[in-house]
Amino acid sequence: MQATVQGFFDEATNTVTYVVRDPESTACAIIDSVLDFDYASGHTDTRSADQVIAFIEGQGLDLQWILETHVHADHLSAAPYIQERLGGKIGIGDRITVVQDTFGKIFNEGTRFQRDGSQFDRLFREGDSFHIGQLRGDVLHTPGHTPACLTYVIGDAAFVGDTLFMPDFGTARCDFPGGSAETLFDSVQKIMALPDETRIFVCHDYKAPGRDDYAWETTVGAQKALNVHVGAGKSRADFVAMREGRDATLAMPRLIIPSLQVNMRAGQMPEPDDSGTTYLKVPINRL
Ligand SMILES: [Fe+2]
Repeated sequence: MQATVQGFFDEATNTVTYVVRDPESTACAIIDSVLDFDYASGHTDTRSADQVIAFIEGQGLDLQWILETHVHADHLSAAPYIQERLGGKIGIGDRITVVQDTFGKIFNEGTRFQRDGSQFDRLFREGDSFHIGQLRGDVLHTPGHTPACLTYVIGDAAFVGDTLFMPDFGTARCDFPGGSAETLFDSVQKIMALPDETRIFVCHDYKAPGRDDYAWETTVGAQKALNVHVGAGKSRADFVAMREGRDATLAMPRLIIPSLQVNMRAGQMPEPDDSGTTYLKVPINRL
């Protein structure tokens, strides 16, 4: 079954938010929403999310799922804001508990921060399925970039999060706490095992040398043939050496510190303090 997919590109964080709909009904899902955040001023803005909400309302769609492919390190999720406006269940991978444990320690969140994934409505595991109207979604656990990363295969479309990027850009970094280049390579093989004509929708695009436009849709067949990191039969050992070498040169994403604290809470801010103000922490020399 063919999923109807609309992408919304956020140039500030290079993120693509998707609305996936069942062509036979009004049912839809959002994958990887963005809450705009100006780090310098500490201000949030809902412009990006409002654009997606306006699209859903304009098309008369019924939002059933607000899905995250993983705990993003480069943008804040707008899942709670969207849920308040449109309903829907917030879902993520069940290994979120590992991510919550890691970053609960790094941010010294204490016992009030639950590390059991209970902030989310649904925790998906490998092999789980769900429905968007008549459209079936299947869950692949595709760790490597983070331990909890999922790929959602919905109809003929795979939403791969930060595993594969466009073929000319390659793959996602694997150097965050809990990341592993070996594991990512194995996860990519799971995606490559899907039918060649499966459409692949990536979570980020940064253009690539020689490409002037942003792009976010490709296919399994194109990834197999052309992906500069893992295509055309590249070996696991060569990939791992390349990935680890490259990761060692990368700066941390601009919004990693706020993103992790918010996204590990399903997009909620930490509790305000006695003054009613919400604060985020900056751990010194920990990341
Ligand atoms: Fe990511």
